[in-house]
Amino acid sequence: MKETSKFSSSFGTIVVIGGSVVGLGNIWRFPYIAGENGGGAFIAVYILTTLFIAVPLILCELSLGRKTQSDVFTAFVKMKSHKAWRLVGGISIFSALFIMSFYSVVAGWSFEFMIKSLSGDFVLSSATNVKSQLDSFVNTGYMPVAWALVYIGVTGGIVMMGVKRGIERLSKIMMPIFFVIILGLAIHSMTLPGVSEGLDFLFNPDFSKIDGSVILTAVGQAFFSLSIGLGAMVTYGAYVNNKANLKKLTLTIVLTDTLVAILAGLIIFPAIFTHGIDSSSGPELIYVTLPTVFGQMPGGMFISGLFFFLVFLAAITSSISLLELNVAFLINRTKLSRKKAVVLTSAVSALLATLCSLSLMDDSIYTIAGVPVFDFLDYITATYMLPISSIGFVLFMGWVANKTLREEILNYNINAPWWYRSFNFSVKYVLPIVLLLILING
Ligand code: TRP
Repeated sequence: MKETSKFSSSFGTIVVIGGSVVGLGNIWRFPYIAGENGGGAFIAVYILTTLFIAVPLILCELSLGRKTQSDVFTAFVKMKSHKAWRLVGGISIFSALFIMSFYSVVAGWSFEFMIKSLSGDFVLSSATNVKSQLDSFVNTGYMPVAWALVYIGVTGGIVMMGVKRGIERLSKIMMPIFFVIILGLAIHSMTLPGVSEGLDFLFNPDFSKIDGSVILTAVGQAFFSLSIGLGAMVTYGAYVNNKANLKKLTLTIVLTDTLVAILAGLIIFPAIFTHGIDSSSGPELIYVTLPTVFGQMPGGMFISGLFFFLVFLAAITSSISLLELNVAFLINRTKLSRKKAVVLTSAVSALLATLCSLSLMDDSIYTIAGVPVFDFLDYITATYMLPISSIGFVLFMGWVANKTLREEILNYNINAPWWYRSFNFSVKYVLPIVLLLILING
């Protein structure tokens, strides 16, 4: 690796990796998915999936990255494995580019909604009115494209400054601000009249609601929320200090991610129940339902503005890792400098983001197989590409690089602790089968 940057402290490591996992997945996707799938029961399944499927997968990715000191593609080259394994890295690289493109569109909306909130556009608006404001914004075409480009520009600027001076330094500032805001908003929600209904919905599981599709949805959500299957953790794993305990790091990250998702739920559901709004309003939950709800509250303009700033902070630290994944790949595989690699990756992302954004307009011509480019990319990454590369990662670490996995996870200690055998068994046998079932069902 030409660039041998390492994160400078364990705090730095946690905020950067935490920044990658905490994102729109927690604040936008988790609340509406939990809302559609019955609340508490879904959350219980989600936590189990996270522990038994997500944790081992993250450990596989981090180990591969730290061992090879490489991006997700070069890692397979350095391990001197059969060339076919590089395909896994290749899929990850493309998935990151695809996710970056639709992610930037949704993240870009947060700028517009911050401004609209603060200028009072949502005060005492009905949901229909907010929805039509969102629709007409999207249908201008150029407005959301412009915001997505600004967003990609900011992301690129940070990545260009490098791993330590850009990514780590700014995450150290942004993540604490993020936590202060999310805690503040959650505490504010606890003062609303709908609080007991909201808490009941979140924490009182009705297990009769669990079926196969709820379980599959939970797995999908855990993958997305924890940035799994893209090799983001391989790329960041390369920057983790060699002495760090990967198991502890993974558990901290997973705990943080789940905590943030639950805090987002604590902000949103009491507010929704206070205003008698349907908890299963889908992807529009944060961009339609919330402005409506905040618009009814005294001082709601500011709360709403603050909320969309929170959405922006959550998203940007995730996009940084999506971009870095491609940038690290280009730096390692070509002669490009970091600066040129960032420009190239941002330009491609900008092009794809523009198509994604325009594809959401009414009667858009930007469709693939009859669906908007936006939905198409969202669908193929989540349904096929992420599960396929995840199967690749577990099979590789379970069967080809099993010794590396052991060395990295145990930090070269010879004595394996009690949990190691079941962990390794699960990586070798259980996870490939479970992931295959998920892929087939998808
Ligand atoms: N985890 C991010 C979120 O919760 C989204 C995401 C999915 C991601 N896969 C990723 C981010 C890979 C970075 C890298 O919003």
